[in-house]
Amino acid sequence: MTTTLVDVHLTEADLEAQLRADVVAGLAAVPKSLPPKWFYDQRGGELFDAITRLPEYYPTRTERALLTRAAPEIAAASKATTLVELGSGSSEKTRLLLTAFAEHEGLEMYVPQDVSESSIRFAADALAIEFPDLPVRGVVGDFTDTTATLPRAGHRLVAFLGGTIGNLEPDARAAFLHGVAEALDPGECLLVGIGLVTDPAVMIAAYDDEEGVTAEFNRNVLHVLNRRLGADFDPRMFEHVALWDAAHSWIEMRLRARREMQVRIPAVGTVVDFAAGEELRTEVSAKFMLDGFGGELTAAGFDPAHTWTDEASRFALVLARRRG
Ligand code: SAH
Ligand code: AVI
Repeated sequence: MTTTLVDVHLTEADLEAQLRADVVAGLAAVPKSLPPKWFYDQRGGELFDAITRLPEYYPTRTERALLTRAAPEIAAASKATTLVELGSGSSEKTRLLLTAFAEHEGLEMYVPQDVSESSIRFAADALAIEFPDLPVRGVVGDFTDTTATLPRAGHRLVAFLGGTIGNLEPDARAAFLHGVAEALDPGECLLVGIGLVTDPAVMIAAYDDEEGVTAEFNRNVLHVLNRRLGADFDPRMFEHVALWDAAHSWIEMRLRARREMQVRIPAVGTVVDFAAGEELRTEVSAKFMLDGFGGELTAAGFDPAHTWTDEASRFALVLARRRG
């Protein structure tokens, strides 16, 4: 029998308050910016899933191939009884881990954690059919608040897949890794998927696909502001921009105003001016060198234990153990 429970650490009211604060701060900043977590309403989640199926978007299929190869070793090395997944989304690739654990000692619990409650419920419903004996306990929360939201039960493996760690800027990333280390006991493990620095043309194409799905995903943040805050953005008046910033080692997504505009955001009592050509930064997606990321893990209190990479060295899975 499966038990699906969802602990809500972030209510709709909390999210609304955070969105207002991020919008007020981000749209008053120079240059303007918004955190990427606001892409992911239901439509944003669906657009992201469509991105993962695009020929240009290599991270998902590469990570899936790595997980197919590494999952049995991850299950054996981590000896986990609880799998916690941060930013779990559709939990699609997680099935590879769940299967490997089922063939090993068996998991006592899977804990998908995401800012989107609908993603967790949707994923949990699908998993209930495929893994009927696995208790699933969802957590609606912000992964930057790991210390408050990690469950205490069992011997834990925290998985953070997809390269989502690259969506945090360096200071937030260091704070996040320290937070996970602090929340884990010595010997417990962290599994992270990271995009590696590769040919800029390959990286840029992954964020600027022919079909325009990523452009629509990028513009979705404006639809979210319209729906949740009553804003009157015309998303078609913003052009999708994806560029490689070699100095910061990240892909940056922006929305560029096609003409001068004024946008009303009634819920925060603001009118925002855009000059023609002005850009709003919506996401960074850092790409790593293996040594550099290993250093970040070590500094946070982890010992990197295993690393798996694809032949073209575009993506890596890193398993690290909390130091004693
Ligand atoms: N792990 C999945 C999904 C990646 S998409 C994969 O590898 O395919 C990123 C996911 O992180 C989305 O489901 C989004 O809702 C979630 N997310 C984004 N920012 C978040 C935050 N600050 N806290 C918790 N979840 C977040
Ligand atoms: C969720 N995250 C790892 C994706 C990425 O590649 O940075 C989000 C994304 N943005 C554009 N395409 C996909």
